[in-house]
Amino acid sequence: MIDLSTTYMGLQLKNPVVASSSPLCDSVEKICLLEDHGIAAVVLPSLFEEQLILESESVDSDLSRGADAFVESSTFFPELADYNLGPEGYLELIRGAKKSVSIPVIASLNGVTSGGWVRYAREMEQAGADAIELNIYSLVTDPSRTAAEVEKDYCALVRKLRENLRIPIAVKLSHFFSAIANFASHIDTSGANALVLFNRFYQPDLDINQMEVVPSLTLSHPSELLLRLHWAAVIYGHISADIAVTGGVHRAEDVLKSVMAGAHVAMMTSALLQNGVAHLDTVLSGIVQWMEEHEYQSINQMRGSMSQRNVPDPATYERANYMRVISSYALRSPIR
Ligand SMILES: Cc1cc2nc3c(=O)[nH]c(=O)nc-3n(C[C@H](O)[C@H](O)[C@H](O)COP(=O)(O)O)c2cc1C
Repeated sequence: MIDLSTTYMGLQLKNPVVASSSPLCDSVEKICLLEDHGIAAVVLPSLFEEQLILESESVDSDLSRGADAFVESSTFFPELADYNLGPEGYLELIRGAKKSVSIPVIASLNGVTSGGWVRYAREMEQAGADAIELNIYSLVTDPSRTAAEVEKDYCALVRKLRENLRIPIAVKLSHFFSAIANFASHIDTSGANALVLFNRFYQPDLDINQMEVVPSLTLSHPSELLLRLHWAAVIYGHISADIAVTGGVHRAEDVLKSVMAGAHVAMMTSALLQNGVAHLDTVLSGIVQWMEEHEYQSINQMRGSMSQRNVPDPATYERANYMRVISSYALRSPIR
């Protein structure tokens, strides 16, 4: 009997496939459907800091960036109002989901500063959220702000929430850090129970006919998984927080690769939006089939087996890989 179960931040999951934060999880009905098709946990769509700032009467004046965010939020709020249910509706969604499903329900907060987050994160905890995922989506465009300052702020935010919450905290990171392994360990020691690798950024496109900068959202491609596998494999064993992979997980083999790189869970959104929630049946049965064929008994048994510390040649995860890849291409493809 194949054992697909895993833990994630101390939560018991029946398998390693989690629905990442998106409108796929924005109603109790959709969450029930995901559970029916075997999803092990759901992350609710993010509640945005701007929504909390607008609602809150007291913007945290210690945090000057909070004030900037407030100005921006009045412009963005109309779209946000359509995106999810707003702060009160969000708590209702948590309560409703907790009543209706038995899988863990993870709430998600998206922002940059701590204004309003702590109080609201506590309310999410009280509403029954099993954990909170922080999507710290900061695009630093100010040339005077240093990488060290940005990283320090992230860690302070995680520490502040850790001090105020009992439930586990996951931190969804971007890959735009110059020393990811070092930063991951700081987030870990600041109190994160999981690192979610990695956020996808949605760069705006340029409409050269209308001379406009236009929002653009494309769903992911499985090739995006490689970046996540690389860093999961590198940091596995160096931090005590669990690792979640998000970005490019489309097929059973993507889940298996994520676990072998070192992840406790692999998260999906694009594949489910593209193929429908029933795609989960194919993914889960594909995992079981592969494990049977390769005589694995459990997910836990394979975790980290292809991490940097467990492969025979750890240099494949470093500069050596780059040189090998470049030279192998030149050798097999003469320039025409
Ligand atoms: C329509 C849509 C909405 C999303 N909303 C959120 C969100 O509110 N918060 C968040 O952290 N990630 C959000 N994401 C990102 C996903 O959670 C996920 O990390 C990303 O799509 C990469 O995974 P995938 O390759 O499985 O799609 C969203 C993605 C999509 C496509």
